[in-house]
Amino acid sequence: MNKNPTSNSPPSAEQIQQDVQKFLREKYGADMVHAEVDSLGTKETSTTPKEEEELEIQFDMKPIELEKYLQEYVVQQDEAVEILATKVSTHFNRLRWERDQGKNLPKIPGQIKPNILMIGPTGVGKTYIIKLIADRLGVPFVKGDATKFSETGYVGGDVEDLVRDLVKVADGNIKLAETGIIYIDEIDKIAASQGLIGPDVSRTGVQRNLLKLMEETEVDLRVPHDLASQMEAVIETQRKGKAPRKRVNTRNILFIVSGAFNELEKIVERRMNRQPIGFRDEESKTEYSAGEILKHTSTQDLIEYGFESEFIGRLPVIAKLNELDADGLHQVLTNKYNAVTQGKIRDFAAYGIDLEFSKDTLKLLAEQAYEEKTGARGLTRVFERALIPFEKCLPSTRINKLRFTVEMTKNPREMCDDLVMGITIKEEVSSFKKKTGITLSISPAARNWLRDNVEDGKTPGDILKEKLESYEYGFSLLKRESLQVTVKMLENPKEYLENLIKKSYKK
Ligand SMILES: Nc1ncnc2c1ncn2[C@@H]1O[C@H](COP(=O)(O)OP(=O)(O)OP(=O)(O)O)[C@@H](O)[C@H]1O
Ligand SMILES: [Mg+2]
Repeated sequence: MNKNPTSNSPPSAEQIQQDVQKFLREKYGADMVHAEVDSLGTKETSTTPKEEEELEIQFDMKPIELEKYLQEYVVQQDEAVEILATKVSTHFNRLRWERDQGKNLPKIPGQIKPNILMIGPTGVGKTYIIKLIADRLGVPFVKGDATKFSETGYVGGDVEDLVRDLVKVADGNIKLAETGIIYIDEIDKIAASQGLIGPDVSRTGVQRNLLKLMEETEVDLRVPHDLASQMEAVIETQRKGKAPRKRVNTRNILFIVSGAFNELEKIVERRMNRQPIGFRDEESKTEYSAGEILKHTSTQDLIEYGFESEFIGRLPVIAKLNELDADGLHQVLTNKYNAVTQGKIRDFAAYGIDLEFSKDTLKLLAEQAYEEKTGARGLTRVFERALIPFEKCLPSTRINKLRFTVEMTKNPREMCDDLVMGITIKEEVSSFKKKTGITLSISPAARNWLRDNVEDGKTPGDILKEKLESYEYGFSLLKRESLQVTVKMLENPKEYLENLIKKSYKK
């Protein structure tokens, strides 16, 4: 194959396709190969809608309907839920209405989509809300991370990859993809940090690339640096004589971006304090929480934070999410759709164990999670911390029901040991009674001894069984109703039994 003649610059997509064609022609002969290559970048290929299915936008949900749906799942965050439900509803209703109006509807020049910026700390429901919306609407949805993109697309990804992914999610249906939702998290990480020159050039570059998408642009589905997509183009040209349209228009794609925006409140607060009427209530000396301050975020603050004004200009809707307090976290846990509680119940169900949480337990777990300061994400952590000992040990016992209590939450390891000990010893005691007629009771010291002598894979009940098993016949000869297990007996059961027998003869 030809080397790219123009020195170091990477070959164009067209060049690659032509090279592939040439290779095929040389190998299999001219008759086998179509000459026409769908050149990337010609206008002609971007408009062949006849080949495509007409898009059916079924959407007719009203804002309140969508809001109600979200409220079933989402705890607190009323303001963000309201804004998102309303703007997303309107966006899709309007797309449908405009389609119904047909071609005669004049374009509104300079129209801005209701792209949405969500501001809120970690684990408070940003991704969750957007996922719920996308699921409910049944529109293609992709989620990206702003930190993964670089200006050139060589290092990480290219912002346009998001649009290509949307087409993949829509099973190649470009029309459908053109009405999808693109959600980009960690958007605050592409803010140019104040007073720094250098790496910020590329962050600003990513902002510029993104803002083109957020407004309107055509994205080519074939990536110049992706050899596979070049091959695909050649193959399709082979099959159909001409490759079908491979461009996606972003005019109607809704962009939702989010970030935690740490330290943004400092910028907002500083600005508010500069204003003639001080933000801080001097009389009462009220200290406002970060959430309270963030409510006053303005475009100006976001620009100071490190965003280009054009970028912020493409995000006309701002939704703020609040930190979840312990009570909020408790509500999250008790929500019937909550993944943490339901997930744990299933983890145990997989071992045939019926897991249940007492009310107070969920309260305590929520309080512990609040200490972690990672929102609802902390819930997973405290659940695992409390439940892992039980999740490890109970499947090897015959326990099939666990009611998780406050004591277990506070002291999981010890409580788990006690539980396993209690239950396995009880099992052994009852099997011993069946064989010998003797009801065993265990002295506290013997209990500790059993606990200290468990080896890997064995339960205290197993140890008790091991110690007594060989002497069961002897014990049954004693014709006793009860017997206390002591440390002495466990350490040397043979001697202990012999002494007992001797004593009984003396009597
Ligand atoms: N307000 C909420 N109501 C109900 N569940 C919530 C809420 N916030 C978070 N959760 C639960 O916590 C999980 C994690 O939250 P989510 O992924 O939305 O965090 P996020 O705000 O996107 O945080 P990050 O900035 O770390 O990405 C969700 O999947 C959901 O189960
Ligand atoms: Mg998230």
